[in-house]
Amino acid sequence: MRIVEATLENISLAAEIVRDGGLVAMPTETVYGIAVDAMNREAVLRLFEAKGRPADNPLIVHIDSMAMLSMAAREVPPLVERLAERFWPGPLTMVLKKQPDVLDEVTGGLTTVAVRQPRHPVAMALIGLVGRPLAAPSANRFMRLSATRAQHIDPELASKLDLILDGGPCPVGVESTVLDMTCDPPRILRPGGVSRGEIEAAVGGPLGERPPAGEHRSPGMYPRHYAPASKLVLVDAVPDDAPGLVLDGPRTPLHIKMPADPVAYAATLYDALHRLDQMGRDAIYVQRPPALPEWEAVLDRLSKASG
Ligand code: TXA
Ligand code: MG
Repeated sequence: MRIVEATLENISLAAEIVRDGGLVAMPTETVYGIAVDAMNREAVLRLFEAKGRPADNPLIVHIDSMAMLSMAAREVPPLVERLAERFWPGPLTMVLKKQPDVLDEVTGGLTTVAVRQPRHPVAMALIGLVGRPLAAPSANRFMRLSATRAQHIDPELASKLDLILDGGPCPVGVESTVLDMTCDPPRILRPGGVSRGEIEAAVGGPLGERPPAGEHRSPGMYPRHYAPASKLVLVDAVPDDAPGLVLDGPRTPLHIKMPADPVAYAATLYDALHRLDQMGRDAIYVQRPPALPEWEAVLDRLSKASG
């Protein structure tokens, strides 16, 4: 595995590797992703193999401009344009009707494609230098904790990558919100970095119902996902003798005190879980955050991790 600092020189090297069909881990504002040329079938297949990801789990295509959007999406309705203007670059992924030449391997055979324009300068520079859309899933093995630092990437997965660009910690800390724009009104398939309230304000009305798990093929909906190696248990109070994330406390050095603000909490969640996971205990306890709308993304990840 090669972890290098994300200097301009190394981003150029990474762009060459991606253009040649290689796999490069890159920081985004949400989590680290493993980027490949979205138009290179062999590279996409190698990526699925490296992650141990089922072939029917579609990937997000990352673009650096509205011009590049036309390489992925068949049409861009006015509401998509409006949301792109409001939230791109940023942690919103929109599911759109796909352009015919988007690879079936990327969309898992669906007629739709998920697209987002990330706002991390390293990701933006890499897409720009490659000059093509990049398919990039989170840089973790299937079902496991996402990486918000280069050092979080599992060594076995890292050994299958050609380069890892280290751009420091990811500021948002949870994955993008996946919004299905092929229905009216749009509906959230996976809560994430942009809140439901922000999207509803931009749409000018309520979003559609979230489809029940299993109905829609979206791995964000797997009942168990985003999980540490230790069992994760949601509790009202973390036991004193066990590692855990607490909102009040900490009472012992095994406890990590989490921020009371949901955005700040999300920013440090995966890092805190990776740290506790390193202790190699049977279980990690998490003090249940409040069941309030602004906690939707955090609650979703915690409930899936506790599976
Ligand atoms: O923040 C993020 O979104 C990160 C960074 C690297 O951009 N990426 C990420 O990718 O989380 P991944 O592969 O771990 O998750 C992709 C999500 C899955 O929930 C998948 O089901 C959904 O996007 N998705 C992709 N294409 C889709 C489609 N055509 N229809 C519905 N859901 C789709
Ligand atoms: Mg993922």
